[in-house]
Amino acid sequence: MTSHTLFALLLSLAAVLTLVSVVSAAGAVSTSDFQKITREERNYRQKKVIDISHKYVPDLPAFGSKNGLGNFIRLQTSIKLGDLSNDSVFNLSTHSGTHVDAPGHFNETLFELGYDVVSLDLRTLNGPVLVVDTPRDKNITAEVMRSLNIPRGVKRVLFRTLNTDRRLMYKKEFDSSYTAFTSDGAEYLVQNTDIKLVGVDYLSVAINPKDQLVKVHQLLFAPKDIIPVEGLKLDDVVPGVYTIHCLPLRLNHGDGSPARCILFQ
Ligand SMILES: *[C@@H]1O[C@H](CO)[C@@H](O)[C@H](O)[C@H]1NC(C)=O
Ligand SMILES: *[C@@H]1O[C@H](CO)[C@@H](O)[C@H](O)[C@H]1NC(C)=O
Ligand SMILES: *[C@@H]1O[C@H](CO)[C@@H](O)[C@H](O)[C@H]1NC(C)=O
Ligand SMILES: *[C@@H]1O[C@H](CO)[C@@H](O)[C@H](O)[C@H]1NC(C)=O
Repeated sequence: MTSHTLFALLLSLAAVLTLVSVVSAAGAVSTSDFQKITREERNYRQKKVIDISHKYVPDLPAFGSKNGLGNFIRLQTSIKLGDLSNDSVFNLSTHSGTHVDAPGHFNETLFELGYDVVSLDLRTLNGPVLVVDTPRDKNITAEVMRSLNIPRGVKRVLFRTLNTDRRLMYKKEFDSSYTAFTSDGAEYLVQNTDIKLVGVDYLSVAINPKDQLVKVHQLLFAPKDIIPVEGLKLDDVVPGVYTIHCLPLRLNHGDGSPARCILFQ
């Protein structure tokens, strides 16, 4: 090693040490960060938060079942029985309560290609959202979609339907007469809107007859970037513009997942 390279090496070592000392001395909160967080906290406190996930209770309806979720959670260890802690296990369908569907839910090829819940885009699940009321005497058909006149560029829409008025998510027995998308409604959404997050207020985005159930899901999943959010609690939500945050679990190979969804006003 020449003395020049040694000198250069010592110089860069000194520079690194100086940097480290500056960083560690900078542990205290700066005035600008203090002002910023105070301001942010003030803005944040003024926003109303609406919880749009249903509570998991034994009587929550389950798709196609008379019996609801049933006793889906049980204690594994219990303080009362001398264990160190209370620790429970739960057993739920990935499509129970408020939940999202992954494209692999109705399409084996997509499932094998890795389109599970882990692959869902967080930017679709979180952002500005429009809540709309749908006509109470119809399912979500192409005609209804046309009449709603949702502008291009709107990426997230929650459809508040007759299901909310009928309080279907509070009835233990599954009700197959729920309101949802028909295949021409789904086709309209895919072809004539930019909607990527489709929220509905009962357990399926598709109406119930089996052929429609399959067709609607396949139509919505064909573009691979549309996320149905099902079983939303829209009771206290006035139609309008909000910010949605919806966070499903990162279930590897999950075809769906329960999700905690909230709205900020
Ligand atoms: C632990 O579980 C038991 C049995 O369900 C319950 O009675 C008790 O309140 C629980 N304790 C805590 C600390 O959660
Ligand atoms: C979980 O629930 C399913 C469906 O209700 C049932 O078939 C299965 O036996 C349960 N598994 C466990 C480990 O309890
Ligand atoms: C929506 O479709 C379901 C299933 O075909 C049907 O039972 C229900 O009556 C329809 N709802 C409305 C409001 O037309
Ligand atoms: C399933 O997804 C594959 C890959 O995108 C697509 O080619 C196929 O048409 C889909 N199948 C159905 C029935 O939608």
